[in-house]
Amino acid sequence: NADKRSQILTINTLAAKFYYYMLKSEKGALAYHYLRGRELSDNTITGFGLGYSDKYSDSLYKYMKSKGYKDDILKETGLFTFEEKGVHDKFWNRVMFPIMDVNNKVIAFGGRVMGDGKPKYLNSPETKVFDKSRNLYGLNIARTSRKDYLLICEGYMDVISLHQAGFNNAVAALGTSFTSGHASLIKRYAKEVVLTFDSDGAGIKAALRAIPILREAGLSIKVLSMKPYKDPDEFIKALGPEAYEERIEKATNYFIFQVGTLMNEYNLYDPSEKTEFHNKVADMLLEFEDEIERNNYLESVCRTFNIPLDGLRQLVKKKGLNY
Ligand code: UTP
Ligand code: MN
Ligand code: MN
Ligand code: MN
Ligand code: MN
Repeated sequence: NADKRSQILTINTLAAKFYYYMLKSEKGALAYHYLRGRELSDNTITGFGLGYSDKYSDSLYKYMKSKGYKDDILKETGLFTFEEKGVHDKFWNRVMFPIMDVNNKVIAFGGRVMGDGKPKYLNSPETKVFDKSRNLYGLNIARTSRKDYLLICEGYMDVISLHQAGFNNAVAALGTSFTSGHASLIKRYAKEVVLTFDSDGAGIKAALRAIPILREAGLSIKVLSMKPYKDPDEFIKALGPEAYEERIEKATNYFIFQVGTLMNEYNLYDPSEKTEFHNKVADMLLEFEDEIERNNYLESVCRTFNIPLDGLRQLVKKKGLNY
């Protein structure tokens, strides 16, 4: 089994080199142009080992066969589809993103269409060497960062853009939801995380789901808003690294973020909705067992959202007694 794992890793490395070579060849001109159009430098392209899977749907397969690899092992890489009609490359005509583990081994790939096709990104399936819930894109580099926190974003391009802009502590869970496996992996390298997800509803939901998982691991959490831009990639492109750094300095505490998103669900001009909102906030505050901590959050929430301090304090006390 260990032998199989190392064979799969070897094939993945060969595939990454193959895709990289394709990108730099004439066939990859459009893909290279696409990446440069997204403002990635040659250094960045090389640093992340980006590549291109060409238009023929069996180029990689033929290459691996020419190297003497048998179908049995090729099947286990997730890079091919085996059908009765024949074998095809899983990825074709896509810009390729090799996914590395913390030891810089290529464990999987993501591939992006260069236009509006669907799916936008195709990813390797889980294999003997790729466990989605225990790997983070970019962590192989971010682990060497001198900063004591990690930036957590959603996508390949966000990580790459952030690194190119000097934020080499960025990682991504790549579209899959955040797991306790991710959290304990992070815990090995950082005490604090700054969530920098997309500004759309899906990004906010992803942040709300990640928070309790990260809390459970004992990590400090802050949240950034990328508004009015879609994601870190677009934010950095529009406003530059200094503006992003400013957002990090002014990052929102996770609890304030939670209360803020909750507040948006209520019409505070309606007294009964407003009361319900206050009740929910009181319930959330009761989750803090430490009294001083609870009081600090109480004060901060009241200041931020204009809630009368004495009233909310009384409400928390009353609810706490019935606890
Ligand atoms: P997004 O849709 O936000 O894409 O998905 P993006 O990262 O901003 O990509 P660009 O800028 O359009 O190139 C966030 C992440 O979710 C995963 C990918 O990891 C992507 O980076 N995803 C998204 C998929 O796996 N498949 C998809 O079809 C779409
Ligand atoms: Mn076919
Ligand atoms: Mn998104
Ligand atoms: Mn994007
Ligand atoms: Mn995005």
